[in-house]
Amino acid sequence: MTDFDTIRPVHWADDHLALLDQRLLPGETRWLRCDSADAVADAIRAMVVRGAPAIGIAAAFGAVLAAREAVAAAPTDWRGHLRVALERLEGARPTAVNLRWALQRQSARLEGDPPDPASVLLAEAEAIATEDLAANRRMGELGAALITKPGGVLTHCNTGSLATAGYGTALGVIRSGWAAGCITRVFADETRPWLQGARLTAWELLQDGIPVELLADGAAPALLRTGAVSWVIVGADRVTANGDVANKIGTYALAIAARHHDVGFMVVAPRSTVDMATPDGDAITIETRDADELLSLGGQRVAAPGAGAWNPVFDVTPAALVDALVTEQGVVHSPDAGRMATAFGGDAPRAMPDAP
Ligand code: MRU
Repeated sequence: MTDFDTIRPVHWADDHLALLDQRLLPGETRWLRCDSADAVADAIRAMVVRGAPAIGIAAAFGAVLAAREAVAAAPTDWRGHLRVALERLEGARPTAVNLRWALQRQSARLEGDPPDPASVLLAEAEAIATEDLAANRRMGELGAALITKPGGVLTHCNTGSLATAGYGTALGVIRSGWAAGCITRVFADETRPWLQGARLTAWELLQDGIPVELLADGAAPALLRTGAVSWVIVGADRVTANGDVANKIGTYALAIAARHHDVGFMVVAPRSTVDMATPDGDAITIETRDADELLSLGGQRVAAPGAGAWNPVFDVTPAALVDALVTEQGVVHSPDAGRMATAFGGDAPRAMPDAP
């Protein structure tokens, strides 16, 4: 492993999938063993594993367990069993497109009649994880190259090793920028209500020797006003055909504040997060989670008894507020429908459109 990169959240262990339980971090480092596809689906739903690419990778390994179960249950009619298990995996969380993308990639590997479907799916799951790590390293280089003046950056949620096969998307850019010396201060929103920033981003950066300063989500505009931050750098759960970006709730507010203060807004996401089949952000299903995640903290009710809650866990940032979309294929500056189509219109990598 390279410097500033020691954490891996998903581990395949021949007969089961092990997931670093992100509900317990930073207090406890415990691995959850998943012996079935349904156990993987439950773990995704419960946020044992979270972050768009990591969800896709876990689901891809979940498909391996599903295939083993299906062949054992119905050696000659395993496809029907497998389809039901894959549907359950896909339904675990709705917003991150990587989940559907990984399962579609797995399903495509089963065309024809493979004699041992589980081993075909295992090879593909391993390829998905390997490619994700390579994409993150490449995005790290490309994103860091956009930071021309050494200074501070602000990030949101957790987009790091914990959210991917390793290294991270936005946090990969921060790792690369820190290593290159062009990032000198890292600010992270605590990211209410699940505290991905305070619990996970802070933990993984400190594990890897990168200092981090946390702030309450509502403090971000005041921080940007000080001039201490030159780029806001975030990940994505889905980028649509017109360049709209679904990401952790609070991202949209950050993008508005960044534009107001003339701070760059960078979205870092692998090609697997780009969904050219969805026209714009209005067409994305935004996950709403249990009100308790907002009304309680660490299992302790903090809100006034009787209060209700509105708890969408993602929002959509309009493409017009994005200065740079970094994927492993290159950088799309000021994304819009035309530049997205030029960059991602087909399956094969294309030349990146010029900066406007
Ligand atoms: O609800 P989560 O923790 O799964 O949300 C994660 C995010 O919103 C991340 O920013 C996104 O998945 C990109 S992770 C590389």
